[in-house]
Amino acid sequence: MSNRTFARRLDRLRFSSSLASMQRIRELRATGVSVIDFGSKFDTPAHIKEAAIRYVDQPQASFYADPRGIPEFRAAITRKQARVNSMIIDPDTEITVSPGGKAGLVATLLALVEAGDEVLLEDPGWLSFDPMIRLTGATPVPFPIRPENDFQLDPADLSSRVTPKTRAIVLCSPHNPTGAVLSHETLAAIASIAIEHDLWVVMDEAYEHFLFDGNRHISIATLEGMRERTISVQTASKTYNMFGWRVGWIVATPTVSERIRMVLSHLFTCVTSFVQAGAAAALDGPYGQGTLTIEEVSKNYEAQRNVLVEGLRAVPGIRCTMPGGAYFAFPDIRSFGLSSNEFASRLLANARVSGLSGSVFGDMGEGHIRFVFNAPLPEIEEGVGRIQHYLKSV
Ligand SMILES: Cc1ncc(COP(=O)(O)O)c(C=O)c1O
Repeated sequence: MSNRTFARRLDRLRFSSSLASMQRIRELRATGVSVIDFGSKFDTPAHIKEAAIRYVDQPQASFYADPRGIPEFRAAITRKQARVNSMIIDPDTEITVSPGGKAGLVATLLALVEAGDEVLLEDPGWLSFDPMIRLTGATPVPFPIRPENDFQLDPADLSSRVTPKTRAIVLCSPHNPTGAVLSHETLAAIASIAIEHDLWVVMDEAYEHFLFDGNRHISIATLEGMRERTISVQTASKTYNMFGWRVGWIVATPTVSERIRMVLSHLFTCVTSFVQAGAAAALDGPYGQGTLTIEEVSKNYEAQRNVLVEGLRAVPGIRCTMPGGAYFAFPDIRSFGLSSNEFASRLLANARVSGLSGSVFGDMGEGHIRFVFNAPLPEIEEGVGRIQHYLKSV
């Protein structure tokens, strides 16, 4: 028996299927194959880049930054939190800047839970939550959100899985992969479960700006009794086309923030200062994509959603819930009699359209495919045409 063993925490981890899929698409495109992935083709708005460039020319850019985040960025987050999330927060004690929402979520979970604890999460749900929880040694406990309920969370499915070991609930709204948006009524029901059982709530708000059909995003931290138990994790990646910049932030009470900062400071020391300067300009500015405001981007996504979902619904055998937010459609392909993995492989091989197998989002995701729709409309139209052409021929 070797002493050079691996941590058992990693036994059930796999690499991220979405990153693997992006790599496969890059490789196919490099060989000249035209693959449609419906993904963003947009650039970070110019004023954000200019702010980062201005900062990098200043002497302080060479040094470690404040582990909480540079003051300018924390001030911008405080303004945004008041404007968008109706939360008045203290920039000195309630914000921690992280290298992306992902790192913010992992640091939060590392600060809150450990081996022997259980963490509740939606199934289907974002594919990184399960491995993130396992990295802490805690046990993920999935609860279903159901297609017949338009993937709306049923609080009874959540409360029935609470045990004496439950410590936290992880939520994501608007939701990846289904686009479901948690209503005030559902959030209130979740809040009362969290309060009754004295649980943490980790709320991933990565897609908070992308809402359709008049939906509203509500931060669960603003509900009565929730501020002290909620950790809100946000990111610049999606809203401002800053995916590669790696910058996000966490809003939590001073005690929780200190714990999270302890984890992050040993992992990263601080987030790259000039990236934060760019992100500060992003939060203070109106633009999300080129010179389109965030509201205009969201309107575009709504139009793109309509073309994608209506195009999918036109294929006999496909059922598709209308997503209320984010930029994901999660059609039901069970009538084709294939596993979702096989369906996604065939779609890529034959129609040259990329979607992710629903099974990577949890057992309840099987029988579904996740398509994104943040590409320009002509690409959505072209992709929908390819899907229809292929599926009508099989
Ligand atoms: C639901 C959800 N949360 C968080 C993230 C993290 O984004 P980032 O680490 O780029 O901030 C993503 C990105 O894929 C996501 O889909």
